[in-house]
Amino acid sequence: KRHLLSAADLTRDDAELVLTTAAELRSLADRPIKKLPALRGRTVVNLFFEDSTRTRISFEAAAKRLSADVINFAAKGSSLSKGESLKDTALTLEAMGADAVVIRHSASGAPHRLAHSGWVRSSVVNAGDGTHEHPTQALLDAFTLWRHLGESKPSGLEGRRVAIVGDVLHSRVARSNALLLQTLGVDVTLVGPPTLLPVGVESWGVDTSYDLDAVLPKVDAVMMLRVQRERMQGGFFPTPREYSRRYGLDGRRMATLQDHTIVMHPGPMVRGMEITADVADSDRSVIVEQVTNGVAVRMAVLYLLLGGSENPE
Ligand code: CP
Repeated sequence: KRHLLSAADLTRDDAELVLTTAAELRSLADRPIKKLPALRGRTVVNLFFEDSTRTRISFEAAAKRLSADVINFAAKGSSLSKGESLKDTALTLEAMGADAVVIRHSASGAPHRLAHSGWVRSSVVNAGDGTHEHPTQALLDAFTLWRHLGESKPSGLEGRRVAIVGDVLHSRVARSNALLLQTLGVDVTLVGPPTLLPVGVESWGVDTSYDLDAVLPKVDAVMMLRVQRERMQGGFFPTPREYSRRYGLDGRRMATLQDHTIVMHPGPMVRGMEITADVADSDRSVIVEQVTNGVAVRMAVLYLLLGGSENPE
């Protein structure tokens, strides 16, 4: 495959290949010599039109650990403020010889526009587009589930149960996870207030529930979502207090989970809103591990897209 735009682009074999490649690369990168020569001579451009901490830094770390050259482009401080278009920005990147463009944009579909425009020859990786998709987040979440639930192969995820909880309506993480986890045979339940579950969510092929307390004891992992108040033009319903009371993961709720169940969050977290600090910092929380795994998974994605093994180096 040339691009990674949607979790739906990945067949089960594709997804399992990314996960097993990430595991191999992580064990290689854990050796004293942390840099691998696989992408020497290749250029990866991080094109971030929207803020990011984890995704931008981990793509940069991933590309550097594979010995690629990295160019970081942030919208702030660029000529976008002078009215430059996505097309002219893309042509500039092309002129600089980018082999892969990792793009985050507030507009859903921007990575697809870039990939199918003919403006660039490079591979395009969606690093989060609007409320649409965030496929590498879903891959790193699947990797974390796989490693943490103790399965020897990614196929061991078949039949596991995951709850994705909260502001599904605005969450590209929820959509990509729902797609990818189903591809891997995981049973997904989306949980949230009716106002924060998308109209037509039934077509996603997953279960839905408004009752977090009923779902928690049944799952192997609970994935909390950030409440994206910046995307709620019409106010916030239910109120923050009511939301936390019904859908926040606190110590009392955590005590109803099975012993092996893990707590996940893609970050950034709003502590006290969707998750309390004692839960976020508890032994069940794999939130920091998700960030670590993000580097290995993004190494695998870049390696597989750019054909690392065909590199003359
Ligand atoms: N999970 C995630 O995408 O975090 P950032 O917005 O910090 O990249």
